[in-house]
Amino acid sequence: MFDLIVRNAKIRGSQTTADICISGGCIAELTEHASSPAAEEIDADGKLVCPPFIDPHLHLDAVMSVGKPRYNESGSHLEGITVWDEYKKTLTEEEIRSNALRAVLWEAANGVQWIRTHVDVTDPDLKTLKALLRVREEVEDLVDIQIVAFPQDGVYTSPHGEDLMRESVRLGIDALGGIPHCEYTREDGIRDVEFAFMLADKYDLLVDIHCDETGDDQSRFIETMAGCTIRYAMEGRAAASHATAMHNYNNDYAAKLMGVLKKAGLAVITNPFDNSVLQNRFDGYPRRRGHTRVDELTEAGVTVAIGHDSIMDPWYPLGKGSMLMAANLLLHTAHLSGKSQAPLLFDMITVNSAKVMNITEGYGIEKGNPASFLILDAKSELQALRLLPEVLYSIRRGRIISRAEPAEHRISREVGELEIDFTVPGRDV
Ligand code: FE2
Repeated sequence: MFDLIVRNAKIRGSQTTADICISGGCIAELTEHASSPAAEEIDADGKLVCPPFIDPHLHLDAVMSVGKPRYNESGSHLEGITVWDEYKKTLTEEEIRSNALRAVLWEAANGVQWIRTHVDVTDPDLKTLKALLRVREEVEDLVDIQIVAFPQDGVYTSPHGEDLMRESVRLGIDALGGIPHCEYTREDGIRDVEFAFMLADKYDLLVDIHCDETGDDQSRFIETMAGCTIRYAMEGRAAASHATAMHNYNNDYAAKLMGVLKKAGLAVITNPFDNSVLQNRFDGYPRRRGHTRVDELTEAGVTVAIGHDSIMDPWYPLGKGSMLMAANLLLHTAHLSGKSQAPLLFDMITVNSAKVMNITEGYGIEKGNPASFLILDAKSELQALRLLPEVLYSIRRGRIISRAEPAEHRISREVGELEIDFTVPGRDV
């Protein structure tokens, strides 16, 4: 007798359906038709079943703060930092905690079960970090959280930057961050990167640096990151977040860079929501897109993942914790609309993010793995990207942690009421 059977699951990557049998929180059996009974059964009805979504880049300390103390009217990255700086002076640990808890619930309801959050560690009390360390424990039944010590005001541009990063390590972070393009000088930017790698190497932690988050084509700290990744033998343990300047690099330099990134095993995290609205604000027209080179990076064999980055904060006023929505936006802005490219976008919110977060085992719908997966209200990846459907079930280690009803739409006409189905049988699966 199983604890739970999910019948007729169209598991991602398979053309046929299967029954997923769960016992003791793990996948005990994957079979065409399970005959044994179970305490509970769900009929997936041929809907897409995939591993949980992963959000490898989120700022949980800033979520829900939009409009406080004022809106970012210019929409620029720099005004966002200024507004955050004004707000964080008044923020309490309890307010950060309650905002973060709300965002975690939103992400969990949208199928996210792993979050990597950057936490501003340039306030002398480290209240943001202390709040997030509490949240990490409080929600571990719903999501696994990795915390990155993020020096928002610069390691060398803010007072006591190095000391606060060291103190963050002592308090229990998972990864070292950085912000080299915001330091006063290029030389300080290089020190910013090297300091993060030095600490990560010393304490066996991961690295995830906000790198070249600017339209400036002269911002090339990603090459310093690649060099450090090779020097410290941290292949697969370091990621460059944003890397938006890469959009504007000359093509000779970009072509060389792709090979270096591949050799280093340095991953890139792109953040479609924030990058779309923050970058290239000073272009006038024509206005460049401000995203990193997702297609070229992927072609070169570099791991690329999608992050949500902001939920209602000074940098991006919208967001509801949906990785599907972020992938949908990237489909447009990165020119990934080919049918064969839908799986790539799905990789970028699942397996690629697992690699980035160094989730080395137990991720994926396989016999023996923890029973953690989603049932989406869609028949295929492309349909999911088109419809942005509800996550009908999010199952984590064998337990249903979130469920939703499929959306229903009815049109009333004089002839009567019509139920609207947004799918086209045989055409869009
Ligand atoms: Fe960020």
